[in-house]
Amino acid sequence: LSIVAALGGLLFGYDTAVISGAIGFLRTYFVLDSGETGWAASSALVGCLIGAAVAGGFSDMAGRKKALLLAGFLFTISAVWSAVSNSLTEFAIARILGGVGIGMASMLSPLYIAEIAPAQSRGRLVSFNQFAIVTGILVVYFVNYFIANAEPEEWNVRVGWRWMFGSAILPSVLFFVLVFFIPESPRWLVKRRRSSEALKILTRMGGRGYAETELQSIEDAVAREEDSTGQLFQPGMRIALLIGVVLAVLQQVTGINVFMYYAPEIFKQLGSGTNSALLQTIVIGAVNLTFTIVALKTIDKLGRKPLMIIGSAGMGISLTALGLAAYFQKTELWVLIFILGYIASFALSMGPVVWVVLSEIFPTKIRGRAMSIATLTLWAANYLVSQTFPMMNENPWLVEKFNHGFPFAVYALFCVLTIVFVKIFVPETKGKSLEEIEMSWRKNS
Ligand code: BGC
Repeated sequence: LSIVAALGGLLFGYDTAVISGAIGFLRTYFVLDSGETGWAASSALVGCLIGAAVAGGFSDMAGRKKALLLAGFLFTISAVWSAVSNSLTEFAIARILGGVGIGMASMLSPLYIAEIAPAQSRGRLVSFNQFAIVTGILVVYFVNYFIANAEPEEWNVRVGWRWMFGSAILPSVLFFVLVFFIPESPRWLVKRRRSSEALKILTRMGGRGYAETELQSIEDAVAREEDSTGQLFQPGMRIALLIGVVLAVLQQVTGINVFMYYAPEIFKQLGSGTNSALLQTIVIGAVNLTFTIVALKTIDKLGRKPLMIIGSAGMGISLTALGLAAYFQKTELWVLIFILGYIASFALSMGPVVWVVLSEIFPTKIRGRAMSIATLTLWAANYLVSQTFPMMNENPWLVEKFNHGFPFAVYALFCVLTIVFVKIFVPETKGKSLEEIEMSWRKNS
């Protein structure tokens, strides 16, 4: 069940990163300036904002399964429409629709996994979603490479990019079909006073004994939850919410998606041809995947804080080096090495750890709503970074002064901020039960 739900994460990665191989061709085809290029790349993110905002409410009302189905439907429509669109506006609308699906899945997949998973394996299974995100990113990098490699530049500008977006039809339909076969979340069923259905599903998952204990604890937890928004801002909760939101923003403003979405363009700008740029992008995806595995293996041993601090330091150092390389107009190889250093550091730390921390620092009774707020902020920050990167990168005044090094210096600065913030404000949650974490907020407040 976790694998099916994590397919939502796979599409999150696939659909957000597909833009990287296509944006250069789109730009030529639709004759876009830097602001319009930013819009073509980030329009989907506006949809993600909407998706993250509505997913909580919609899934509370209609159920997790229907919400996941809707996300799958939107993924499919968007893949078809963006592939056949004939103007920037049409393309942007298609991408916004898909973005709604991504935004919904980005919060629903981990939420669904958390709700069906037995407590002792919840952390690992939730992190599995990040593994799916980076797998989706790597797969689409390959797909983009093979499409672009097959034909000359002129063909790619005309139709190659259409195949790139169209290729998402396959995983989208697969997700949509598979979600039909997963059961509704027992936790949601209990909330809707449908405990007998919940019991049946739990029995199928873990046998009668497991089902009865599990149902009891879900019923206890649901009974403790009250539906008031004011709760989010009570002293003990306020600080948890604040930490979650700031971490979500920091995950994005340290620049990850500039590389996920614009890597081939960065390589081209720094001297590579199209094929070499797409190949180097595949290497980025592979390093991202490899170090995510390292993180999954160490997160419960080393702890969340050390990973985030070491990782952010690595990201900051790599970004500074990259900024300097861009400033001094150094060669391709150095650029690749610094970018890989940055990606490895991110994959070890801010990538998986932020999502894990978001799923565990909120007290049970506000977890859903709080996670929705944090996810929404994460997408807003992502939008801001993706929209402003081409503008900073191509601003004539900044280019004259810093030779394309400026944006990286900005992201490096946020890495320093991350280290300070994590050191001072984020509690270590390794090995603690969710109740212990909840208690520590109350004590501190
Ligand atoms: C982030 C995404 C990013 C991905 C890259 C995720 O944790 O939320 O914005 O594209 O990691 O691996």
